[in-house]
Amino acid sequence: MEAVKNPRVLVTRRLPGDWAARLRAAGAEIVPLPHDEDIALTREEFLALVAGCHGVGCMLTEVWNAEAFDAAGPQLRIVANYAVGFNNIDLGEAKRRGVVVTNTPDVLTDATADAAWTLLLAAARCAGRGERDVRAGRFQGWGPNDYLGVDLVGKTLGIVGPGRIGTAMARRSRGWDMQVIYSHRVDKPEFEAATGGRRVTLETLLRQSDFISLHVPLTAQTRHLIGARELSVMKPTAVLINTARGPVVDEAALVEALRAGRIFAAGLDVYENEPKLADGLAQLENVVLLPHLGSATFRTRATMAEMVADNIVAVLSGRPAPNPVPLP
Ligand code: DGY
Repeated sequence: MEAVKNPRVLVTRRLPGDWAARLRAAGAEIVPLPHDEDIALTREEFLALVAGCHGVGCMLTEVWNAEAFDAAGPQLRIVANYAVGFNNIDLGEAKRRGVVVTNTPDVLTDATADAAWTLLLAAARCAGRGERDVRAGRFQGWGPNDYLGVDLVGKTLGIVGPGRIGTAMARRSRGWDMQVIYSHRVDKPEFEAATGGRRVTLETLLRQSDFISLHVPLTAQTRHLIGARELSVMKPTAVLINTARGPVVDEAALVEALRAGRIFAAGLDVYENEPKLADGLAQLENVVLLPHLGSATFRTRATMAEMVADNIVAVLSGRPAPNPVPLP
């Protein structure tokens, strides 16, 4: 592909890092945002602002369907997602229109694995409920039966999705001498070498794990991968962690299982209909709820923004994108 002269580029939020300088150095005209503070564009604003752009740096909250590609126009060359996940983008539509899609792998692996462990520890040790109680003045002093949680050392960690983040999650379990098992279509020798993990079926993983951490991308196959039946075969002491995508878990079924004490606890960073929560979820004491902050460290978010800019610059200069998402 030939380089685009004076390309028009939209980045839909006010991002940290050195991204704007990189775009300007490559001769891009950056479309100004309509708001002074960092707020999400409405769908109408988004559709109006993408019009005529050659490159768009976008957020996981912005849906790229036929309507969005139509609004952008045929000159669009690249959609650079400010996320490693890309379920907000219709890849078939991108392919039909010859648009490159990119994401931000690797840079957020450690931050997201750390967030998953934050949830695991907090959920296992009732830290969410404890924190709420201290703040609300309900802490009446130490008690022998208060806030009893589950132990971690020597337990089994089940990784659903042994990719980059799943591997980083499993590696961290060494500190607790855990057994690692994982589920995947085929063996993952790199995962096994890095973690000592053993492949089992999803069913076995659900039945044997003390801690289950989800790291699969959201696809038609993984939507509601964890539903009422899957929750029903987990140990009553199990803790479920989701830092992947909300719809991987049937949230209403999870509320039911937590309410009935069918599993011990859950820790969620992502939700089925973000930012809305399933009815009853926020009222449960045995769930730790974070606001989709997996990649939210200063360094990670700045580097992600720079990757967005680098991908846009590469494609608009006629070079291959450093982080292309394979199109179907
Ligand atoms: C991602 O990158 O997919 C996270 O959900 C947000 O950074």
